[in-house]
Amino acid sequence: MPLKGSCEEDILADLASLRGKDPDYRRGRTWSLVYYLDDAHERFINRAYALYSSANGLNPAAFRSLKKIESDIISMVAELFHGDGQVCGVLTSGGTESCLLAVKTYRDYGRARRGIRKPEMILPVTAHVAWLKGAEYFGVKPVFAPLDEYFRVDTQAVAKKIGRNTVMILGSAPEYPHGIIDPIAELGRLGKDHGVPVHVDACVGGFILPFMEKAGRRLPPWDYRVPGVTSISADLHKYGFAAKGASTITYRRLELLKHQMFVHQDWPGGVFASAALLGTRPGGAYAAAWAAIQKFGEQGYVRLAQETLAAFDALKTGIAAIAPLEVIGDPCGPLLSYRSADPAVNIFAVGDQMEKRGWHIDRLQMPDALHAMVTPIHGTVWAEYLDDLAASVETVRTHPELAESGSAATYAMIAHVPMRRMVKKQVLELFAQLYAPGATDIDLGDVHLADGPAADGDEPGSRLSLLERIVRRYVRFKARRG
Ligand SMILES: Cc1ncc(COP(=O)(O)O)c(C=O)c1O
Repeated sequence: MPLKGSCEEDILADLASLRGKDPDYRRGRTWSLVYYLDDAHERFINRAYALYSSANGLNPAAFRSLKKIESDIISMVAELFHGDGQVCGVLTSGGTESCLLAVKTYRDYGRARRGIRKPEMILPVTAHVAWLKGAEYFGVKPVFAPLDEYFRVDTQAVAKKIGRNTVMILGSAPEYPHGIIDPIAELGRLGKDHGVPVHVDACVGGFILPFMEKAGRRLPPWDYRVPGVTSISADLHKYGFAAKGASTITYRRLELLKHQMFVHQDWPGGVFASAALLGTRPGGAYAAAWAAIQKFGEQGYVRLAQETLAAFDALKTGIAAIAPLEVIGDPCGPLLSYRSADPAVNIFAVGDQMEKRGWHIDRLQMPDALHAMVTPIHGTVWAEYLDDLAASVETVRTHPELAESGSAATYAMIAHVPMRRMVKKQVLELFAQLYAPGATDIDLGDVHLADGPAADGDEPGSRLSLLERIVRRYVRFKARRG
């Protein structure tokens, strides 16, 4: 902490310059993490945020404005998802909070209603990792269901896994890795038949699928129109184009939502009741989300969905036309993934070439693939992206040795290290060092541990990526074992 404060303009200039190495999302070079439209929209939601940046949604009886904002948003969402007048819910700080809350709710509902002491939930293997976090935090065993040939969860497998300890079944609309919508109608039927709640994770899809449908795209049913669906999570800070820190979780009826709530009557600080995970709840994020919805309205969101779909369709067709790339499954938007059908063209090496050309792209595993989360801004860059992709494939085809070097080799090795527990242990150890006292560089791709402890065999002060360190350790481990 500086001894003396600085002038506000200097501080803001410092903050602006800190962003130098961040992903370049303003020009559409980034295909994950950010949902950015343009500076004018960003300025607008910042103004809405600023009006409420000190306001606290913790106590709904205190900040009546925030309670009204929350009720408005929840009733709009309930209507958007075709709920009847009984659908209710809360605002949360993001998709992960919404997913965690569903796990807690159904664990407690299963215990209260069916006396379940060893709760399990059935998750497609493509469920967002937030569900595994929830499983770990709340002691609910994840039971994984495999996928069918279209990368949707295999509902026959789900049916076989339902047991007396099943507190919840999950489907995604769509799932994050490949952008595929699970067969929610069949999951709903299974849930109804067995008396098990069904949650739909529409964190990424919730604020675009309804508008895609209104724009004329045919989609499988996924919302409250499906009778067995008991709750839905949907993020405002993704395709709602709100500021970061806003999501929703809604339930078909209040009886379920009650199991999400926490009340403690004997605290010296007063009788305490809270509807969601957080204590203090960020008024700014909720106000910015409300402002975004008022600004776009249904017509505005339909227009944004159309723009997104135009870019998505162009990308999907364009990628499929670049041999040997193939789009995984048949995603309906707004995200997709693609792999290489030719082992001689390493998809991670293609990813490296794309990075060299200035694109920020996520890597997937099981199967190895690259990822693209499409937003309206990509309408201005998809043609350039496809040109670069074709050129990257050509470079890798003529230089197959690229698969043996750089992050291609590292990613491939990580994806295929058989001892997954060892990968987990090493990632934890290295990740923790990012938060150790004195660790300054928070770039996972280039962990600088000059001041931190060097772990077995890594040269102190070396600049290695996190993944490279893991691979090195794995290689040493194998060597020791002969
Ligand atoms: C399907 C799905 N669920 C949950 C999440 C978690 O959302 P958040 O990153 O806002 O916590 C995501 C994020 O992309 C997602 O795609």
